[in-house]
Amino acid sequence: MGRRIWLLTGASGGLGTALTRAASTAGDEVVAISREDLSDPARVRRVVAEAVTAFGRIDVVVNNAGYAAAGAFEELSDSAIREQFEVNFFAAAEVVRATLPYLRAARSGHIVQISSLAGQIGAPGMSAYTASKHALEGLSVSLAEELAPFGIRVGIVEPGALNTGFRQSWAGRERPGAIADYDDLAARLDLLGHDTHRPTEPEDVADAIVALVGLPEPPLRLAVGSDAAAGIRAARTRQLTDLETRWIA
Ligand SMILES: NC(=O)c1ccc[n+]([C@@H]2O[C@H](COP(=O)([O-])OP(=O)(O)OC[C@H]3O[C@@H](n4cnc5c(N)ncnc54)[C@H](OP(=O)(O)O)[C@@H]3O)[C@@H](O)[C@H]2O)c1
Repeated sequence: MGRRIWLLTGASGGLGTALTRAASTAGDEVVAISREDLSDPARVRRVVAEAVTAFGRIDVVVNNAGYAAAGAFEELSDSAIREQFEVNFFAAAEVVRATLPYLRAARSGHIVQISSLAGQIGAPGMSAYTASKHALEGLSVSLAEELAPFGIRVGIVEPGALNTGFRQSWAGRERPGAIADYDDLAARLDLLGHDTHRPTEPEDVADAIVALVGLPEPPLRLAVGSDAAAGIRAARTRQLTDLETRWIA
């Protein structure tokens, strides 16, 4: 395949930086949508239009920017939950909406959504984050079918723990509405924030994504890391057990 044009959010962070490097090494061009652009739909549309003007097309769209608003659901403020969805879901949806007219006209393109193991499971202290990633996955699964007739592919990447700065933001976070019953959970989240137990290197994920978009028949989902595979398998097994033993006709 010739040179591909990538549009990427979250390029300043761990996986985004690795992906920029991997795509460039593969001979592709990467256009980054910055944090400032991402919060403004008009600016997103302008960056997309400028990319098409400069390069003639967009081949790969990666929604990678994201963070986790960790904390007990009862302690999270309304604005913290809404902001979580603004970044992890609505900004990604906006990037898709801004690029679709060009991809549809070209009858090609690959939209890659950086979800998470958290897009497949639930986790205490991670309700806002898991909800936002589940929403992103729901959007993406539907889009995959909706856009297939136009030759546009959708892929969902589900990493477990990555060796990036992502988790550090959990540790030491403030709990303005702290409720003592959740102190143990907060302490566990702090520990998790420092947990560096064999995380996957972002460079390995980046290489896998570059390979993914080059496949003639790419999968809808790509789980990354043995922790992601085990977590997803356990969640699906539980779901199947419920379905087979407790369904109502
Ligand atoms: N690391 C993990 O363990 C892990 C596991 C599963 C999934 N993921 C997902 O992987 C993706 C990349 O995360 P990462 O591990 O590379 O984390 P990271 O190193 O913290 O990088 C996150 C990127 O997202 C951007 N970002 C964060 N908050 C933002 C906001 N409020 N508005 C706009 N942009 C924002 C950051 O921009 P700034 O540099 O400006 O902050 C940065 O470019 C995320 O979607 C995350 O949910 C990560």
